[in-house]
Amino acid sequence: MAGLGTANDDHGSDIKFVKVIDILSGKVSGRVAVRGWVYRHRSTGAVQFIVIRDSTGAIQTTLKKGEVTDEKFALAEKLHIESSVVVVGDVREDKRAPGGYEIAVRDLKPIHIGEPFPITKDMSEDYLLDVRHLWVRSREQNAVMKVKASVLKAAREWFNMNDFYEVTPPIITPSACEGGATVFAIDYFGNEAYLSQSAQMYLEALIFSLERVWSLTPSFRAEKSRTPRHIVEFWHLEAEEAWVGNGENMKIQEELLSHICQRVVEWNEKELAFLGRDVKSLRSIEPPFPRIKYDEAIEFLQSKGFSIEWGDDFGAREEKALTIEESMPLFIINYPKEIKAFYMKENPEDPRTYLCSDLLAPEGYGEIIGASERETDPNKLIERLKREGANLENYEWYIDLRRYGSVPHSGFGMGIERVVRWLCKLQHVRDAVPFPRTPSRYYP
Ligand code: 4AD
Ligand code: MG
Repeated sequence: MAGLGTANDDHGSDIKFVKVIDILSGKVSGRVAVRGWVYRHRSTGAVQFIVIRDSTGAIQTTLKKGEVTDEKFALAEKLHIESSVVVVGDVREDKRAPGGYEIAVRDLKPIHIGEPFPITKDMSEDYLLDVRHLWVRSREQNAVMKVKASVLKAAREWFNMNDFYEVTPPIITPSACEGGATVFAIDYFGNEAYLSQSAQMYLEALIFSLERVWSLTPSFRAEKSRTPRHIVEFWHLEAEEAWVGNGENMKIQEELLSHICQRVVEWNEKELAFLGRDVKSLRSIEPPFPRIKYDEAIEFLQSKGFSIEWGDDFGAREEKALTIEESMPLFIINYPKEIKAFYMKENPEDPRTYLCSDLLAPEGYGEIIGASERETDPNKLIERLKREGANLENYEWYIDLRRYGSVPHSGFGMGIERVVRWLCKLQHVRDAVPFPRTPSRYYP
């Protein structure tokens, strides 16, 4: 009988390790070796039921007294939740087992029994955040991280198919892109520098070489707001395109986002089902997305009883009201200048507003993309920066981009965790990131 003498070593092993998913999907049968962690453990005295999970799923294994040595049986009783093990056994179809299959164990080897796992049922949210380094093993986190990986893979795939170059902008910068209020200052060898809020300004410089560029970087916002959609450090997917106006910029966003949705449905049906996301709702995300003007959004909100006036920004409540009944993402265009960043292009039809758009996720999840055509008039940029009290010296390089062969251009930034929150139906955006940074937490 092939045993564990070699099964913990792929090289020269007489038994091949398989993934749990391959057993549950009926791809492999007969004698197998599996390695993973104890997910559940129950004993009747004569039989031990040990559910073992790996990165792909969980499978029940049964250990019967007499079918393994007494020594192994006694050793198995010492396993804790999350002890790491290798088992060799025979795959059996069994309707009663979760997933429809189980492994009748012939040999078992603990790799590390370790200490009793500190996470048990019904732990508080706060405690689970304290032990996030262990909670990332949970089924929910596992599913969310798989969806997130698919979002990134699909985005990269889309950009590659659409002639964009991936570029690598800096994280340390002298210039705040999204305004001084939420900037993280760091001591840069005696000078003040900032952690990037957005790669946008650097992407703007790079279009003059590459025309269509994108990047994925961490962005930082020193936002004290404790809302379910704000984290201090998030992953920012940004693109910038030369020769593109605001309308075509929106087309790029809707194509990219719908590609992401289609791929996630294709790759993550199992995870979406576990998270309670109906795949039909994502499959139907196809261009064109509806678009309304900021003015219309204000009228709609007023008709719903909101005390809001032209010029006010939308918070979570307003964005929720605008999209709670929607099944498609919604573009809101032409926001007033006062509530948007300095770099946006003035709307020639209504100079009180910009040629810009926010894309709101359906079902009330709120903003997932911020976008605009960019101002090309250096004087307008200087004037706006002055009004904000910015130190112009730090923006000279950016103004330069409007001095040497300037072209119309547009771009956008997508908050990856915001997208994942919507796709996975998460209460809080922090659950879309393995180690969330919030105003009150940067541990672990
Ligand atoms: O709307 P924002 O601030 O736009 C920019 O930063 C532009 N410079 C992007 C660009 O045009 N290249 O941020 C873009 C997106 C938001 O729509 C949101 O999805 C996400 O980034 N985001 C956050 N996500 C989580 N937590 C926060 N505190 C976030 N702030 C912005
Ligand atoms: Mg925004």
